Amino acid sequence: MGWVALGLGAVLVVALLYWQLIIAEGAYLGRRVVTLLYDWSARVYDRIKQFDPGYEQWFLGLPLSRALALVPDPLILDVATGTGRLARTLFRQQGFHGRLIGLDLSRRMLREAVKATEPWADRIIYLWRSAGRLPFPDDTFDAVSCLEALEFMPSAEQVLFEMLRVLRPGGLLMTTNRIGKDARLLPGRAYSEQAFEGLLRATGFEMVRTQPWQEDYDLIWARKAGVGEPVGLRRLEDILRCPGCGERLYRETDSLVCAQDAHRYPIAADGVIEMQ
Ligand SMILES: C[S@@+](CC[C@H](N)C(=O)[O-])C[C@H]1O[C@@H](n2cnc3c(N)ncnc32)[C@H](O)[C@@H]1O
Repeated sequence: MGWVALGLGAVLVVALLYWQLIIAEGAYLGRRVVTLLYDWSARVYDRIKQFDPGYEQWFLGLPLSRALALVPDPLILDVATGTGRLARTLFRQQGFHGRLIGLDLSRRMLREAVKATEPWADRIIYLWRSAGRLPFPDDTFDAVSCLEALEFMPSAEQVLFEMLRVLRPGGLLMTTNRIGKDARLLPGRAYSEQAFEGLLRATGFEMVRTQPWQEDYDLIWARKAGVGEPVGLRRLEDILRCPGCGERLYRETDSLVCAQDAHRYPIAADGVIEMQ
């Protein structure tokens, strides 16, 4: 009897760990665990995901560049950019002449992103930072994306609100909602199609459209309500703000410095701006 109970206990512990660490990727255990898991897996992430360039172009690069075709040099923010997946497909589109800022919680994922997007380095800036409060003023970007990541964040609502805030009126949102069999194991983190669309509308988005995409994810397109002029290219110093006080930053050789409290945010050797 003792051995049976021990065996059952061990199975339960393994199942619990599998659920929390593999399926939920640390989402219920706090930001540190999520960061740790992505830092650990950064070097093998692309090998695990096996992105197919044709598929990436068809579902992400092409529709996004076409949706922005009338905006000269659009400015895009990719929240939870990972290893630079969106940048890789977007910058391959011939008609795309914009710039991208990629933000992520995992420094090692960003290191991989820098390597993978080296051919377009002069058009991309990477920020090491959590998505909870985005260090940009209102109405900054022509488009904001967040792929396969909202369910790992403590509050999808807060991040959606932040993405809405930094989008210009009429700006485009491209994001994902977790579906499939594992979605049932992510209570409070995955939504029904109706609930997610409702959440986006309640946040301030309109023209919400859900597109079937992968076994585990729907792709969602929406626009920020209102009409605004395209934003286009702007100097980093004009759009990046101190995460501490919201004040402007000025550039020194290897850092950005807050104009108010002189807090320094290093620019690492690989170019990543470290705001964590
Ligand atoms: C499944 S990966 C997706 C990466 C990329 N968007 C893609 O589609 O390949 C999830 C990413 O979300 C990032 N992430 C998780 N929580 C985050 C947060 N609170 N703020 C910023 N990034 C976060 C992780 O570090 C990881 O790079």
